[in-house]
Amino acid sequence: MLHDKKRTNLLLSAAGRDAMRRAGRFNAQLLDFIRPHVKAGVKTNEIDRLVHTYTLDHGHRPATLGYQGFTKSCCTSINEVICHGIPDEYELREGDIVNVDLTTIVDGWFGDQSETFLIEPVSDQSRAVTQCAFDCLYLAIEALTPGCRVSTIGETIVPEAHRRGFTVVREYVGHGLGRNFHQDPSIPHYPNRQSRSDRLLPGMAFTVEPMINAGSRFTKLDKADGWTVRTKDGLPSAQFEHTVLMTEEGPEILTHTEHGPRRGHKF
Ligand code: MF3
Ligand code: CO
Ligand code: CO
Repeated sequence: MLHDKKRTNLLLSAAGRDAMRRAGRFNAQLLDFIRPHVKAGVKTNEIDRLVHTYTLDHGHRPATLGYQGFTKSCCTSINEVICHGIPDEYELREGDIVNVDLTTIVDGWFGDQSETFLIEPVSDQSRAVTQCAFDCLYLAIEALTPGCRVSTIGETIVPEAHRRGFTVVREYVGHGLGRNFHQDPSIPHYPNRQSRSDRLLPGMAFTVEPMINAGSRFTKLDKADGWTVRTKDGLPSAQFEHTVLMTEEGPEILTHTEHGPRRGHKF
C-alpha cells in the first residue's frame, strides 16, 4: 500500500511532462555546447568551468554543485573511472576515453545525461567498451513499453554486454527523476527482485545509464576523495545516459542532442 502511494506521486501531469522536456532539452543543449571542447590538451577543470558558466548564463543551476558535498558542476570519468570523477587539473590526452555527465536544474526540474568521448586514437578495447555502453543504452530504451517491468532494462543489457565479453556494473544504478535528483524507481542495469516488480508507467521520468566494464564488474571507491569510482581491475569502463519519459505511446528520450552520436553510431 505504501508502495502504491509512492508510485502515484511519480506520475507527472501534462505540465510536469513539459517541464521535464524543457529540462532535458536544456541539458542536451549544454552537452552540445561542451562537445567541441572535449579534446586532447583540455583540463577537466576547464570543461567544468564551461558547464558552470553556460548553465548560469542561461538562468539554470548545475545539480551536482554542492550535492552531498560534491564541489563541481559535472562529473568527468576517465578510462578506468566508472563514474563520479571530479574535474581537476588533469589534461585530456590521446588514448583517453572520458565520460562527461551533466545534470541541470531548470525551473526546479532535473535533466541528467552523459556521453563518453574518445580522445583519438584510442585502443580497440576502449573503443569496443564505449560502443557496447552506447548500444546497450539504446537497446534498453527501445525494449521499453508502457507499463513494462523495470527489469526489462537489465534483461536487455546484461546478455548483450556478456555476449561482447564485457560486464555490467551493479553498485551504481539509474533512477527516477523529476523535482528530485534521485527518486524512485531504482533503475538497475541488471535484473533483480525489485526491478522485476517495479513498472514503468506513463508519466514516469527516469534515467537509463549503463556502466559497462571491459574486465570484471567490480568497483572500488576512492578513499581519499570519497567520490571517484574505479574498476577494481584497472581496465576501462564506459557509460552513456539519457533521461527518458514513459508516455502512453512508449519511451520518449528527453535528452537527445543535435550534434551527438545518433542511435546506430559506430565509434
Ligand atoms: N549525474 C550522476 C547520475 O547520473 C550523479 C552525479 S552525483 C555527483 O546520477 F555528486 F557525483 F555529481
Ligand atoms: Co548523470
Ligand atoms: Co543519472
